[in-house]
Amino acid sequence: MATLSLLLLVSLLSFSSALDMSIVSYNNVNHEKTSWRTDEEVMALYEEWLVKHGKSYNGLLGEKDKRFEIFKDNLRYIDEQNSMGNRSYTLGLNRFADLTNEEYRTTYLGFRPDRKRRLGRTPSDRYLPKVGESVPDSFDWREKGAVLPIKDQGSCGSCWAFSTIASVEGINQIKTGKLISLSEQELVDCDFIDQGCEGGLMDDGFEFIIKNGGIDTEQDYPYKGWDIRCDSLRKNAKVVKIDEYEDLYSGNETLLKTAVANQPVSVAIEGSGRDFQLYSKGIFTGKCGTSLDHGANVVGYGSENGKDYWIVRNSWGTEWGENGYIRMQRNVKAPTGICGITSMASYPVKTGQNPPSPSPPSPIKPPSVCDDYNECPADNTCCCIYGFRSFCMEWGCCPLEGATCCDDHYSCCPHDYPVCNVRAGTCSIGKNNPLGVKAMKHTLARPIIKNSKKSGSEGMKSST
Ligand SMILES: *[C@@H]1O[C@H](CO)[C@@H](O)[C@H](O)[C@H]1NC(C)=O
Ligand SMILES: *[C@@H]1O[C@H](CO)[C@@H](O)[C@H](O)[C@H]1NC(C)=O
Repeated sequence: MATLSLLLLVSLLSFSSALDMSIVSYNNVNHEKTSWRTDEEVMALYEEWLVKHGKSYNGLLGEKDKRFEIFKDNLRYIDEQNSMGNRSYTLGLNRFADLTNEEYRTTYLGFRPDRKRRLGRTPSDRYLPKVGESVPDSFDWREKGAVLPIKDQGSCGSCWAFSTIASVEGINQIKTGKLISLSEQELVDCDFIDQGCEGGLMDDGFEFIIKNGGIDTEQDYPYKGWDIRCDSLRKNAKVVKIDEYEDLYSGNETLLKTAVANQPVSVAIEGSGRDFQLYSKGIFTGKCGTSLDHGANVVGYGSENGKDYWIVRNSWGTEWGENGYIRMQRNVKAPTGICGITSMASYPVKTGQNPPSPSPPSPIKPPSVCDDYNECPADNTCCCIYGFRSFCMEWGCCPLEGATCCDDHYSCCPHDYPVCNVRAGTCSIGKNNPLGVKAMKHTLARPIIKNSKKSGSEGMKSST
C-alpha cells in the first residue's frame, strides 16, 4: 500500500531546482497566535517558495489550492515552533513544505530494519577503545575530501542505497586517496535482497557489493530514481570493491564517535517526525522516536555553544537542512542516541585493492539520432514535440531508453511502464493497473553538428 500512495504522490512532486537553498526567513514572526500572518502574506510566501523550488501545478485542477492549505498549515507549525525560543534548531520552508507529514513519510523514507538478521551477527570490536588511543573532540570528513556533494534520492525510498554508497565512497577515498562517486542505481536495480525504491537495508547493500565483487561508478550507471531492470553490463563494471562490512555495538555514542573518527558510518534513524521533515538549521533536538525508518551517514561530529552534535549527511538534495546536512544532538541521555542513531550503525571494511581500472569497459554509447539534423544523448529516446503530417518539426529527448512518448508531446514513460496517463502525469504497466511512476519531461534535442563524421544511421526513435 505504500506503493500506491507513493504513486499518487510522485506525480505531484517536481524536480527541485538548483537555486540558492536558503529558506524563506521569518523575521517578523508574530508571537501572538491570535494575529497570525494574513492570507496575502502567506500567499506571497507560497508564490516565492514555488518559484524557489521550481514547482508548478499546471493541469492538476484544485491541486494548487490543496497544496496551499498544506503549506499554510506547515508554516503555522513552523512559526509556532520557532517562536518557542531557547531552541538550538530552526524549522523552515524547505522542499517538503507543501507535503503533509503522511505524504512525506510514504515517499522519502525507505529503511527497512530487519532486527532478526542483525541479531544473528556479532558486532565488531574494531572501534572499541584501545589503551593510549585518543579520539579528537571534533571531526569532519568533508574537510578531508572523503565526502561527495549531497545527492538527491528523489521520490524513491532508496535512502538505504545512498547511505550504503556514501560509506563506500568514504572508505575508498580513505584507502586509495580517490573520491569516486558510485552508483546507487545499481543497488536499486540489481540488489534483489533489498526492494529498490520500496526500501532496503545498508548491510544488505554492503553485502551485495562484496558478493558482486565491486560496484560501478555514478557516471557509468547514473541515478534515475525509480526501479529499472538491472543493467548487467554495468553491474559487471566493478570499479570500487570492499571486503567486509561490520556492525557497531548498538546503544553507545562513544563507540559511534570512535568509528566516525575513522570513517563515515551508515546509520539508521527515525526521520518521520514533522520536526525532521521541516528541519532547516541548527542542532536538532526535536521530537523523535526510535522507529528506524531512514538511512543516512554520520560524517563527523563537533560541539557548538556547549551542545554536542553529529554531522549527518542526508540524500534529499541541498534544499533541505543545512545544505543537505542535519546536525543532530550528540550525547543525549538515552543510549539509543537521538532518533535511535546508535541503534543500527555499520560500515564497510576495505583491505584489498580495487580491480584493475579497465575492468570490463562499458561501451560508450552513441547518441540517439532523431533525424538528419537532431540527436539526443545516449540512452535517450527521441520524441516528437511538434509535427506536421508525418514530419517531425521539433524533437525532444526523453531521458530514458526505449521510452514511450506520450500524446501530450510533452512527457514520456519508461519501457516497463509504457502506458501514459497524460492527465495525471503518470505511467502505468497496463490500462487498468494502478501501479505507476511519474512521467518524465522531455528536454530539447540538439542539432547534429556535421563535420567529419556523418551519421546516416537512424537510431531508435519513436514518435507519437
Ligand atoms: C531556556 O532554557 C533554560 C535552560 O535550559 C531554562 O532554564 C529556561 O526556562 C528556558 N526558557 C524558556 C523560555 O523556555
Ligand atoms: C560505551 O562503550 C565504552 C567502551 O567500551 C564503555 O566504556 C562505556 O561504558 C559504554 N557506554 C555505555 C553507555 O554502555
